[in-house]
Amino acid sequence: MTEDLIKKRDIYFPSYFGGNDNLITLLNTATQILCDWFSKAENYGPLPFDENFNFILPEEEGNSAEVLFTEIESLLKSSFNPVHPGSLAHLDPPPLIFSILGDLIAAGLNNNLLAYELSPSITLLEDSLCKWFAMKIGFDDSSGGIAASGGTLSNLNALIAARHNAGLGSDPNSVLLVSEDAHSSLVKCIRIMGLDKKNLIKIKTDNNGRMNIIDLRRTLDKCSKENKKIFAIVATFGTTVRGAIDPIKDISEICKERNIWLHIDGSIGGIFAITSIPIEGLNNINKANSITINPQKIIGITKTSSLLLVANMRTLVNTFSTGLPYISSKENILNRGEIGIQGSRPAEVIKLWLGFRFLGINGIEDILKTSINRKEFFIHNICKNKFEIYSGPLHIVSFLPKGLNPKDSDIWTQNKVNELMKHNFMLSRPKFKGKYFLRAVMGNYNTNESHISKLLNFLNN
Ligand SMILES: Cc1ncc(COP(=O)(O)O)c(C=O)c1O
Repeated sequence: MTEDLIKKRDIYFPSYFGGNDNLITLLNTATQILCDWFSKAENYGPLPFDENFNFILPEEEGNSAEVLFTEIESLLKSSFNPVHPGSLAHLDPPPLIFSILGDLIAAGLNNNLLAYELSPSITLLEDSLCKWFAMKIGFDDSSGGIAASGGTLSNLNALIAARHNAGLGSDPNSVLLVSEDAHSSLVKCIRIMGLDKKNLIKIKTDNNGRMNIIDLRRTLDKCSKENKKIFAIVATFGTTVRGAIDPIKDISEICKERNIWLHIDGSIGGIFAITSIPIEGLNNINKANSITINPQKIIGITKTSSLLLVANMRTLVNTFSTGLPYISSKENILNRGEIGIQGSRPAEVIKLWLGFRFLGINGIEDILKTSINRKEFFIHNICKNKFEIYSGPLHIVSFLPKGLNPKDSDIWTQNKVNELMKHNFMLSRPKFKGKYFLRAVMGNYNTNESHISKLLNFLNN
C-alpha cells in the first residue's frame, strides 16, 4: 500500500470517535469555495460556461484534497449561477441558505427513506410534513403524501395511482386528459406507463391559457362514445410558459360528476396554497385526488424537492405496496419505499422542513409576493405597443415582438438571448403556439427593480 493511500484512509469516512477535525477542515474549505463563488457571481455572469472546460476522469491513483478543491473551483466557475440577479431563465431560483444546510445534514445522515428502520425520525418527519401540507390545502384526515425527486416523478406517482385506482392496469384504451399547455413531463409519464401519444388527449386552452371547459366536455363525450377510459384529468396550477391556472372549480365538478381522478400539477403554483395570497382556484384545490407541489421551483428549496399530496393515502398504499421481504416493518407506520415509485431515497425532506421552519408562512409569502411584484413591474414597464405578452397570475411572463412569423421568432429570440447574455441577463426561449418566445421567470430574490429596468432597456429600445 502506498504512503499516499495510508494517509487518505484517515479521511475515507467520518470517525465515530474524537473531533473529526479533518472533516471539519474539509467542510470549511468547501464552504469557503462555495461562498466565494456566490459572492463573485457578478464577475462571472449567470452562465459562465467555458467551452474549454475539462474535467479529469477517475484514475488508478486517487488525488489529494488540494487537487480536488482546485477541480471543484473550476467546476463552479463553469456552472450556471442561480444567485446572479440576471438569472431569470427558468424555475431555478437561488438556493435558500437553510436548505443548503439541510442538504449537508441529509448527506451526512445518509438515512434511507426506503424504510422506517433505516430512517425512523426522517420517515416521521416526511409523513408529518406531507400531512401538515395536505391539511393546509384542505384535505381531510385520510390525506397525506410522499416526497419525490422532482415534479415529473410526483406527477408519475399520481398518474400511476390514478390508473390503478380506476382498475385499468395497462388497458390500451385508457386515456389521460391534459390542457395543450400542460408540462411535457406528462408525455413522458404516458410513455413510462406503457401508453403512447393517442392515450394523451390535449384539451384546448382559452385566451388566458386556461383549459377550455367547453372543449373538455366535448372531449369527454367523444371519449365515452369511442369507449376510451379516462383514468385522470390533469389541471395545471401554473403553466410553464405563462403561469396560467386551469379553472379548478369547473374541472373538479366535472370530475366529480363523472367519477374521474383529478390530478393538479401544482409544480409551479401549488406552494401558494399554504399562504393567504389570493390566487384564483386555490379555494378548490382540495377537490383534487392528488396534487404535485415543487418547492424547488419558487421558494428556493434546493433541488430536488417535490411533494405529491393525496386526498387518500390508501390510494398510494394500494398502488405501490409490494412488501419488502428483507425489511422489518412496524405496525401503523408505512415504509415510504412502498408508497411511491422510488425505493432508496435520501432525506431531502430535511431541507424542505428547515426551509419552512426558517421562513415561516410569512417568509414564504414574502418570497412569493416579491416574485409576482417583479413580474408586474416588468409587465408595467415593457413596451406594450411593441410586444405580444403572455402571463397569468404567477411570476412568469413570455413575450415576443408583435407580428413575427415562426421563422423570424426563432431568429429574433436566438439573437436576443445572445445579446442579453452579453449583458449578464439569462432568459429562456420556449416554443409556444408554434413560435419562439422569450420568457422571464421572476423568482430570483436577488433581482431588484433596477436590474429589471436595465433588462427592459435592452428590450424596449
Ligand atoms: C408545470 C410543470 N410541471 C412539471 C414540471 C416538471 O418538474 P421537474 O423538472 O421537477 O421534474 C415542470 C417543470 O418545469 C413544470 O413547469
